Amino acid sequence: MKPLENKVALVTGAAGGIGKATANRLLQEGASVLLVDLNEASLKETFSELNSDQAAYFAADVSKEEDAIAYVQVALERFGKLDIFFANAGIEGVMKPIQEYPTEVFDKVYNVNVKGTFLGLKYAIPVISDGGSIIITSSIGGFGSSPFASAYVASKHAVLGIMRTAALELAPRKVRVNTVHPSQTNTRMMQDIEKDLGDAKARETFAAAIPLGRYAEPEEIANMVYFLASDQSEFITGTTFRVDGGMDA
Ligand code: NAI
Repeated sequence: MKPLENKVALVTGAAGGIGKATANRLLQEGASVLLVDLNEASLKETFSELNSDQAAYFAADVSKEEDAIAYVQVALERFGKLDIFFANAGIEGVMKPIQEYPTEVFDKVYNVNVKGTFLGLKYAIPVISDGGSIIITSSIGGFGSSPFASAYVASKHAVLGIMRTAALELAPRKVRVNTVHPSQTNTRMMQDIEKDLGDAKARETFAAAIPLGRYAEPEEIANMVYFLASDQSEFITGTTFRVDGGMDA
C-alpha cells in the first residue's frame, strides 16, 4: 500500500512550478488530489500532463471568499473528504524600493499571499480530517529579507502568524500546520523576478549567494511537503522548514 493511499489532498497554485511538482508527488504516493489555480489554461494543461484518474481540477482565485468556499466544497464532492491542504498559491508583486512601491500592488500581494492563505484555512479547517496536515508555502523571505520586495517579504512573514495560530487551534484535533521556506526555486516566479530586475546576471548573482550554488528544483520542495503531509511528521506542528541550499548556515 502506498503511504498516502486513501488520503485526499488539495493543492493551490497547482499550475505553477512548486504546486505541480507537489501534486505529482502526492499522486505518486497514492493520494487523490484536487488541483486549484487561477490560471485555467495552465491548470487544464497541468491536469492532462499529470494524467491521473486520482486528480481533478478547479479554477479559483484564492483571494476571493466565494472561491475558497467553492474549492473546498469541490474537494469534498469529488473525493468525499480532505486530509492534506497545501496552501501554496502566491505572487511576487514587483521589484521596487518602498518609496516607489505601488500601493495597489502591495494590496494585491497581500490579498493573494496572506488573505488567500487565511481564507483557504478558514474553509478547510472545519472539514479537514482529524490527524490531517496543512502546509503553507512561505519563503526564506519569511524570515529574512531582500531589497525591493517589501510586499512579498511582509506577506511571507505574515503567513507564519497564521501557521502558528492554526497549529495551536488545531492541535486538539491532531491536525498539524507547518510552513515550508524555499530559497530561489526554478519556476516561472523566479524567471519573472529576474526579468523584472532587468539584470541579465540576476540568476548567477542569486545562485552565488546559495552555499550549494544553485536554485532549488520544484521537486526538492515537493519532497519536504510530502514529508509534512505524511504520517512521518505526525509529531511536528507549528514550525518552519527551510529548503534553502544552506542559506541559513
Ligand atoms: P509559479 O508562478 O510557478 O506558481 C504560482 C501559481 O500560483 C501560478 O500557477 C499562479 O497562476 C497561481 N496563482 C497566482 N495567484 C493566484 C490566485 N489568486 N489564486 C489561485 N492561484 C493563483 O511560482 P512557484 O515558485 O511555484 O510559487 C509557489 C509558491 O512558492 C508561492 O507561494 C511562492 O511565493 C513560493 N516561493 C517560491 C519561490 C521561488 O523561488 N520560486 C521561493 C520561495 C517561495
